[in-house]
Amino acid sequence: MNSKQQLYDQLAAQLSSLLAGERDLTANAANFSALIFHSLPDLNWAGFYFARDGELVLGPFQGRPACVRIRIGQGVCGAGAAKCETVIVPNVHEFPGHIACDSASNSEIVVPLMKDARLLGVLDLDSPIRSRFDHEDARGLEGLVKILLSSVSS
Ligand code: SME
Repeated sequence: MNSKQQLYDQLAAQLSSLLAGERDLTANAANFSALIFHSLPDLNWAGFYFARDGELVLGPFQGRPACVRIRIGQGVCGAGAAKCETVIVPNVHEFPGHIACDSASNSEIVVPLMKDARLLGVLDLDSPIRSRFDHEDARGLEGLVKILLSSVSS
């Protein structure tokens, strides 16, 4: 097993115990973003946007202040929400419509939060390193998002 996979396995175990016994989405998303931000290397932003009335609204995060509302289909977050699929962007400067919240960001990954085929929001991670995220990150983060979604009641 390689070290990235090991890191995600460790994070999955830590996240499960961190969220155990709490079913509030905001509280669990807040602890999720803090755990990820302080455990995964080379991140400058980690957090959530929640789907509200047809747009994405900023949720719990770690990093610099970010834009509050994003239309579905707009930017990387909006693209992930529109497709209901994970989106990996190796170089955000080449992504049409990318929304620059922190000028330090060079690459990004967005993972949709799908519960019973309903979009609850997206997880968004930014990195100052180009091509920071790959398919192992996508698989690992999708696994962590599953743990979050199964922890909450909404
Ligand atoms: N870059 C994102 C906006 C959110 S920030 O990165 C926190 C986007 O293009 O959707």
